[in-house]
Amino acid sequence: MKISKIVTLGGVAGLLSLSSQTFAVEEVNIYSYRQPHLIDPMLQVFTNETGIKVNTVYAKKGMVERIKSEGEHSPADLALTVDISRLAALKNAGLLQAVHSNTLKSNIPTNLRDTDNEWFALTQRSRVIMASKRTVPEGAITTYEQLSDPDLGYKICMRKGSNAYNISLIASMVAAHGRDEAKKWLAGVNKNLGRKPQGNDRAQVGGVIAGECDLAIANTYYFGKMFTGNGGKNPEQIEWAKGVNVIFPNQEGRGAHINISGIGLLKHSPNKPNAIRLMEWLASDMAQYMYANENFEFPVKNGVPSSPLVTKYLSGGKFKGDSVPLATIAEYSKIASELVAEVGFGR
Ligand SMILES: [Fe+2]
Repeated sequence: MKISKIVTLGGVAGLLSLSSQTFAVEEVNIYSYRQPHLIDPMLQVFTNETGIKVNTVYAKKGMVERIKSEGEHSPADLALTVDISRLAALKNAGLLQAVHSNTLKSNIPTNLRDTDNEWFALTQRSRVIMASKRTVPEGAITTYEQLSDPDLGYKICMRKGSNAYNISLIASMVAAHGRDEAKKWLAGVNKNLGRKPQGNDRAQVGGVIAGECDLAIANTYYFGKMFTGNGGKNPEQIEWAKGVNVIFPNQEGRGAHINISGIGLLKHSPNKPNAIRLMEWLASDMAQYMYANENFEFPVKNGVPSSPLVTKYLSGGKFKGDSVPLATIAEYSKIASELVAEVGFGR
């Protein structure tokens, strides 16, 4: 059975509205920032187990605006996204509703769900430093703060400052040090860039391997993706993974920056019971196992182990994570964006 429509958001709104009226009752509609290839295998298992059809609309951007403009006629039940700032934006726009589920409460730790039960984390990831094995001795870099040192002696590859992952990392520096110090830090990092920001997280590691930089800033799961050649699509990236050490920063202090992917039930969800059933399923052992093993993310549910690859190469998934509340990171994301503009990051 075909369970998802992989289409762009702009082109499919009409189609999805239509389908929600004509399809059989047992379905659920997701607006997703997460790429189809990540979530489709999981949704297939959910459909097989429950008989509930899942329609997915993949959005690269504009989700908040879309849901707002559709209003109470929106066919969407769930918003699935990466990054706390996007979940907070959905909540702050009044587009989510609370879900009171004992399953979600027992499977997802308190610090990884919204205090008003409007969003729930499904996976965790850390934004770490991937250091050249060739040029950076082990132990030479241990903190984010070092990255701004004028005498660092290493070049950094980092994607655009405006990227959501970087905004959250910068917001964590604001949380730890305040606006002024975070600005100095970002200006210092900017001076240590080996090249103008370009490409995605993995491209930063590519920059290290090409000798343009010594240090790359990237999310943990990309190490697993590179190490496995991205499922055969990017075999050259296997060597990239093998050429770097993964450093979890600030292990003697506040810990490495943590971000999440998560989900929220939309206010006008037309298939609410099915939507909640899918939310609960995504927090179940099976789905958490799949997140860990197919996408190399850290499960949120206690007792679900990291993938063997992550266990072997990423401290077994055991490292100290920054315990600053995710809501604080979301709150400081606006300041982080201002700092990126103020220091002219990457220009
Ligand atoms: Fe990502």
